[in-house]
Amino acid sequence: MTEPLRLGIAGLGTVGIGVVKIIRRHAALLEARTGRPVVITAVSARDASKDRGVSLADYAWETDPVALATRDDIDVFVELMGGHEGAAKAATEAALATGKDVVTANKALLAIHGQALAEQAEARGQVIRFEAAVAGGIPVIKSLTEGLAGNEITRVMGVMNGTCNYILTQMEATGRGYNALFEECAQLGYLEADPLLDVGGIDAGHKLALLASIAFGTKPAFDDVKLEGIQRIAIEDIRHAADMGYRIKLLGVAQRTGRGLEQRMTPCLVPASSPLGQLEGGTNMVVIEGDSIEQVVLRGPGAGEGPTASAVMADILDIARGLRIATFGQPATSLEEPPSAQAGLPAAHYMRLALQDKPGALAKMAAALGDAGISIHRMRQYDHNSSIAPVLIVTHKCTSAMLEHAIDGLNATGVMEGTPVALRIEEL
Ligand code: NAP
Ligand code: HSE
Repeated sequence: MTEPLRLGIAGLGTVGIGVVKIIRRHAALLEARTGRPVVITAVSARDASKDRGVSLADYAWETDPVALATRDDIDVFVELMGGHEGAAKAATEAALATGKDVVTANKALLAIHGQALAEQAEARGQVIRFEAAVAGGIPVIKSLTEGLAGNEITRVMGVMNGTCNYILTQMEATGRGYNALFEECAQLGYLEADPLLDVGGIDAGHKLALLASIAFGTKPAFDDVKLEGIQRIAIEDIRHAADMGYRIKLLGVAQRTGRGLEQRMTPCLVPASSPLGQLEGGTNMVVIEGDSIEQVVLRGPGAGEGPTASAVMADILDIARGLRIATFGQPATSLEEPPSAQAGLPAAHYMRLALQDKPGALAKMAAALGDAGISIHRMRQYDHNSSIAPVLIVTHKCTSAMLEHAIDGLNATGVMEGTPVALRIEEL
């Protein structure tokens, strides 16, 4: 019989248990597809006494994930604990040091330490695979490293955090505010242990940094991702954007421009009729543009036991089949330092201002925009019963520096209530 592929799985939470279930349920199918049995040798988690709803009696138990990672009787270390330091990093390094291949769903670990780990792996001919780390069940890493490998990639963008998309789409559907939906997500168990990872855009920023590395042949550079979360999106912005034919999304964009490699994960307006605009609930979408393919749109579940475990299995099966691809699609030592773009390409922006309703206020507002070199494309003042007039503006294309200049100018007019809200309108 062909040698089995022996796994050590560290982390038996949502994803880890999902992987155990697939391996138990589909043993014959997995062997038929790879030509060899795929077996679990040992597992690890913190609490050995926890009932995880599936029998683990057939597997050796290690409380210390480093001990699991260095066992002689495993070929692949499957890291499903999470976190970019501590046990996940130590055990992954130990696994590589003792000749194991690694499969992980951990975007934080790879976005921050991916370059060093990839160099460590590739120096000895080992692989690190991470399909589950970006957009859960969507095979986006495989699409970039294999299916689209013949393209020069021009832009990668997408909605990669289901929790944020759920909050934003529910705000529009139900008229409830951000805080109420945040609480609902907490109760439904949608939020990461540190919710700022979701709503602050950090989780999605980690994912974008990994996609950008593969797409543009650069070292993963999470620190270069411009991040802004969804916490300040008000129900008024959702409504006004909808009135003007847009939806607000936490959108990640990575593209090479004349200014360098632009990477940002920020709330943006997108046309409501576009595929990204139509994306509802916790679903993810990744759009990849390349010189030959033009555009590919991938849509699917970005999280959850089944979808994420499905992606982990794809990596395990590739290893079982003998497919060995460099972590970021080309040798780690050949990845360039990313030429970080200090500023994004100019874009139209949506602005919401609260203006004191008195003579000359609108003129002062227009002058502040004009002084910053910003031209108004559309403007609307909403009916109101108070002394504060809500004003919406869509600008012609401007840079973020011009926008900052304009906001400083607006704040100095003496006719503004609060600071203006400004959101980029993304061209799709
Ligand atoms: P989870 O449900 O919180 O499970 C984490 C598991 O790791 C638990 O079994 C925990 O043990 C174990 N663990 C944590 N620290 C440990 C340590 N120091 N030593 C040994 N075991 C330890 O997490 P998850 O949702 O499955 O996520 C796992 C990974 O997949 C993360 O990197 C996450 O970002 C990624 N991911 C998750 C999803 C998703 O939908 N959940 C989607 C994409 C990617 P105990 O059970 O004993 O506490
Ligand atoms: N917290 C993530 C999300 C799932 O809401 O999309 C794990 O990547």
